[in-house]
Amino acid sequence: MKWLLGIDIGGTTVKMAVLDMNGIISDKWEITTDIRENGVHIPTDIAASFEAYLETSGKAKQDFAGAGIGAPGFVNFSEGVVEYSPNIGWKNFALVSEFEKAVGLPAVLENDANAAALGEMWKGAGEGASELLAITLGTGVGGGVITNGNIVHGAAGMAGEIGHITVERDESKAVMCGCGRKGCIETIASATGVARLALQKRKGRTTSLNELNEVTARDVFEAYKANDVVATEVVNEMTEYLGLTISNIANTLNPKMIVIGGGVSKAREALLKPLDEQFKRFALERVYASTAFKIAELENDAGVIGCAWLARKHFIPTRV
Ligand code: BGC
Ligand code: NA
Ligand code: ZN
Repeated sequence: MKWLLGIDIGGTTVKMAVLDMNGIISDKWEITTDIRENGVHIPTDIAASFEAYLETSGKAKQDFAGAGIGAPGFVNFSEGVVEYSPNIGWKNFALVSEFEKAVGLPAVLENDANAAALGEMWKGAGEGASELLAITLGTGVGGGVITNGNIVHGAAGMAGEIGHITVERDESKAVMCGCGRKGCIETIASATGVARLALQKRKGRTTSLNELNEVTARDVFEAYKANDVVATEVVNEMTEYLGLTISNIANTLNPKMIVIGGGVSKAREALLKPLDEQFKRFALERVYASTAFKIAELENDAGVIGCAWLARKHFIPTRV
């Protein structure tokens, strides 16, 4: 039996996993994403970590059918190139050929959030859901749209780039985004956005968030659960903007299921409950009523599982 290698590249960590043909994870680990020099070191970092894995696991490279890579950014699937990655800095980066050269396995490329959507469809909260919208809240905000069981790519592969939906048009409030524009939902609802809002709102206030040097999205949701006033303001603002965004997408696509994943989704109910209220507030009633809205079941594994699904589809000939 052959193995599949799933590589989910994020703005902060690269998640790696070895999976069987049924999408069951045999081993998984992660390395830090080295964004120095616009991410040029990432393929060789992955290769070094994979070689180290092979040495200890007793598996051989020939036992692998191939790799699926999920990359954060605007992806040219047929060329295997990342045209632009807001959170890594890749510009026209030939990721597939760099990866194949460094790792020595054939690879197939997909946008990270699209891969997470496929993972959720295959094994997660959206199991069997062929009309699915996946939203990932991590270093960036990603989206993956599945209709009829397939990822929607659009004219230039940009479909599902929901992180760059403009939600703040007030120039005095809009913050610069990695895409070069201002006021994107990513600047508010990503892990970085939540932390930024907290830093801004905690100034001169009485809040447990002032006891921390660095504030993460996780700290904010912890403080929110403990009824901290500032954290509550942050979560209310974040979920209002994100709920508005999700409602507009749902009104457009009417997905059967929406799954929220990525690091921020680890807050689970503390995120889902206020977000669901906003979704209900802004979406059409029939849209709201026909959509299952949940936290991604696979959490951090959605990406690598979706990557394995792609690798299997790509490198395993189907028998007829
Ligand atoms: C990128 C997307 C990506 C998302 C999550 C955004 O900034 O534009 O392509 O899916 O971050 O990583
Ligand atoms: Na996407
Ligand atoms: Zn943007």
